[in-house]
Order: sequence, then C-alpha cells, then structure tokens
Amino acid sequence: TGAQASWLLDEAERWIDINRDPAKRVLLHGDGALRGLTQINAFFENSTRTLLSFEIAGKRLGADVVNMGVSTSSVKKGETLLDTALTLNAMHPDVIVIRHGLSGAVQLISEKVDCPVLNAGDGRHEHPTQALLDALTIRRRLGSIAGKTVAICGDILHSRVARSNFALLGTLGAKVRAVAPRTLLPADVERLGVEVFTNMDAGLEGADVVMMLRLQRERMSSAFVPSSREYFHFFGLTPARLAAAKSDVLVMHPGPMNRGVEIDSAVADDITRSGVTEQVEMGVAVRMACLDVLTRRTRKVEGWA
Ligand code: CP
Repeated sequence: TGAQASWLLDEAERWIDINRDPAKRVLLHGDGALRGLTQINAFFENSTRTLLSFEIAGKRLGADVVNMGVSTSSVKKGETLLDTALTLNAMHPDVIVIRHGLSGAVQLISEKVDCPVLNAGDGRHEHPTQALLDALTIRRRLGSIAGKTVAICGDILHSRVARSNFALLGTLGAKVRAVAPRTLLPADVERLGVEVFTNMDAGLEGADVVMMLRLQRERMSSAFVPSSREYFHFFGLTPARLAAAKSDVLVMHPGPMNRGVEIDSAVADDITRSGVTEQVEMGVAVRMACLDVLTRRTRKVEGWA
C-alpha cells in the first residue's frame, strides 16, 4: 500500500545523514544492527550501482558481506540455479540479494531457501529497490509524490525499472506516463495504469519528472534493435525537448546512461535539474532500510517476531 511504501521511505531517510558523516558511520559500524549476520550478494548479471550499494549498505550495518562472483563460480561449470541456491542456503546466510536475467528467478530462489531474499533485478520483471530509491529522490527533491506527473521514457518493453516504478509511483499517487515508440512498449501497457504516449514531445508536456531509460540491447532480438542515431532523433532527451516539461523539472536515470542515445550530455550534466547522483546516494539508504527491516524477524526485534 501507499502507507507501507511511505513508511519504508521514512526508514530509508534515517540513514541519509549517517551515510554523509564519516564520524557517524564509524559509530554505526561498532553497533550495526546486522552484526554477526551473513549477507550473500549473488549477481548473475552485471551491475555497478546495485551491487556496490548493497555491499556498502550491508557493511555499514555491520553484516559480513560475501559477493558470489558468477564468472568465477561453479555456475560456469553447468550448475543449475536451484542447485546454486541450495548450496548457498546450506551455508546459513541470513539474507541473500539476487540479480538474475530471468524474470521470476528471484521468486523461485526465495521459495527454496530459509532466509529472506531481496530482488536486485530479475529479467524485465521487477527492480523494487530501484523504484524505492527513485521514489525517495522524487520525494526529497519535489517535497511530495502524490499528484506529480512522472514521464518514464524509452525502452519500457525490456525495463524492470519501468515496471517497478509504474507500480510504486502509482501507489504513491503520481500521474505516471509511459513514453516510447510503439515497438518498445509492452503489449499489456494499457493495463499497467499509466498514460501512454508514442510521441516524445507530447509525453514530456508539463512533466514534473522525466525518467530516462537506456535501450536494453542485451534483451532485444537483433531484428528489433533500433539504430542509435534514429532513436536519438525521435526519443533522445535534448535541452530543446526538455523545454516542454516544467521549468524546474527533475531529470532522472537509473544508469548506466548511454549519452547520445537516450540522453544528450547537455541534459545529463545539467546539475540544476539532474537527480542522477542523488539517486545513487539514495540507493545506499534504501538498501540499508530493506536489509534492516527484512532481518528484524531473524534478529527477534520486538514487534517483529
Ligand atoms: N540501476 C541499476 O540497476 O544499475 P546497475 O545495473 O549498475 O546496478
């Protein structure tokens, strides 16, 4: 519900000042809520932001954090996902963070292991902690989410970020738009509770927030890969195009950015409007909140047993 999501964002807010202050981080490290607990990060797809922020979040809370490097693991020798999950489970982790290229893989693993599992992105399905950090960034920059117009633009068909944001921002009362060429919209987009635009200029009109998505070429069949130049011509976010949005528009991107494809460098580097680095910062706070809350039952925190 919106109330539950707002509560989790409030939990994340608690960590922001601590993360910014090395002296507070030193104090926290000696008294972290996850001291003695083991966190495994198992990333079957590449990541910079999500992997590092989950690792930093766990370490700041005092957990023993272990990263399973898939390229050096026995996955490369043909071990199945379920056998890998059962292997990790046998080591008694207290929380497992998983990224996987298949939609539904994280759910599957969560049904086979004994500890809480956090979804760090599964295929084109969901990326829930990304949506939470996006919501926190919007709330802090604009003061509220309810009633704000958020245009999510680009390769929506292959984007787990878009799906999670449609659900979360909609629940929190935003007016959410999906802006993309028809070929990069999912068949069920009309049922996702968003307003659909296939023209970029119309989709940006009056927006409070513009969230850009990269072309996820790794999930496309070669027949449907658009050329970068053509895509930028029709759907690239340039300063001229952005003028259709509100003058104090917040520009967001989950990263990694492909400059000159979905976003012009002049927009990406406009620090008065860009929230991209703040999104990364909020990612650590959100993941600390998720790790803290998800392990409260394990830690027998009063009210969570
Ligand atoms: N936003 C995001 O998921 O980035 P990474 O792929 O670098 O983790």
